[in-house]
Amino acid sequence: MTDMLDIRRPDDWHLHLRDGAMLSAVAPHSAGFGRAIIMPNLVPPVVTGAQAAAYHDRILAALPKGAPLQPQMTLYLTDGTDPADVIAAHRDGIIRAVKLYPAGATTNSASGVTDFDRVRPVLEAMAEAGVPLCVHGEVTDPSVDIFDREAVFIDRVLDPIRRATPGLRVVMEHITTSDGVAYARSGGDDLGATITTHHLVINRNAILAGGIRPHYYCLPVAKRESHRLALRDAATSGEARFFLGTDSAPHTDAAKLQPCGCAGCFTAPNTMSILAHVFEEDGALDRLEAFTSLNGAAFYGLPANADRIRLTKRDVPARYPTSITAGDESVTVFDPGFPLYWHLED
Ligand code: NCD
Ligand code: ZN
Repeated sequence: MTDMLDIRRPDDWHLHLRDGAMLSAVAPHSAGFGRAIIMPNLVPPVVTGAQAAAYHDRILAALPKGAPLQPQMTLYLTDGTDPADVIAAHRDGIIRAVKLYPAGATTNSASGVTDFDRVRPVLEAMAEAGVPLCVHGEVTDPSVDIFDREAVFIDRVLDPIRRATPGLRVVMEHITTSDGVAYARSGGDDLGATITTHHLVINRNAILAGGIRPHYYCLPVAKRESHRLALRDAATSGEARFFLGTDSAPHTDAAKLQPCGCAGCFTAPNTMSILAHVFEEDGALDRLEAFTSLNGAAFYGLPANADRIRLTKRDVPARYPTSITAGDESVTVFDPGFPLYWHLED
């Protein structure tokens, strides 16, 4: 039985760090990752290279001294994004990717794209320069059932964009369905997909059965069990197209516990312990490193991190806080619903 894992330092290819007091509170919990793609959905969003550079510096200031984390910045694509600014920010090493939110799809996405034809020149310039597009893959059409929004997005939006923009490198962010898994598998080297920690653990019953549990509500919303199993199969497959993007998305409890509460699960503190548990359960511990530390870097054309981390399985569960404090407020940590015997060593 394996009770020790020594793997390359993991990366998080989809992370929300927020700003201000929340940034100070949550950044230390992701500080042990090597690189993280930082989501730009601040209020107001990060839309220019100059804003991304300033946000990068605020993140560095919020990290503990000597922390490994190297934030990889993104720009928030809007109908008004200037292709020249995107290309210059990428060329100058300020940004790693551009994020596409359909307007209104999720938290702080009001400035997102309303008309995909308007961003065509940006996408073409990105394809030319090799700038990856990270996509929040849900339609916002109110007539489409929320559980179908990912599958419909693939047909109506994603596939047409990819066909119209050959060479565009696309990351399907936080896929939640077997349709997402199948579409990712249908692509070549130019198509990747991130999978979150929580979507490997919960299905929609966790949110809705036996009482409503706002801390399990995130977007895209967790789907039925067959989809969770498809995600487990993809993540543990070792296939290069699938890699970790935690989508750790902290909100204060006050904002979550509302008649209309925010979407997001805060998984940064216990992600690696949960993933080791999941991969062991599926007999795939030997493929954890590919998912957390190798595949994403390769997709982004970066070397794997040179240093390593160690996870040890012990008889007593690892202890994680049930919540952390941000300013005067509390933020609940994702509860996987089982004890975590895999300890992340310092
Ligand atoms: C994210 C957030 O809170 O910013 N929420 C979420 O449920 N995942 C936005 C997002 O990634 O959709
Ligand atoms: Zn997200």
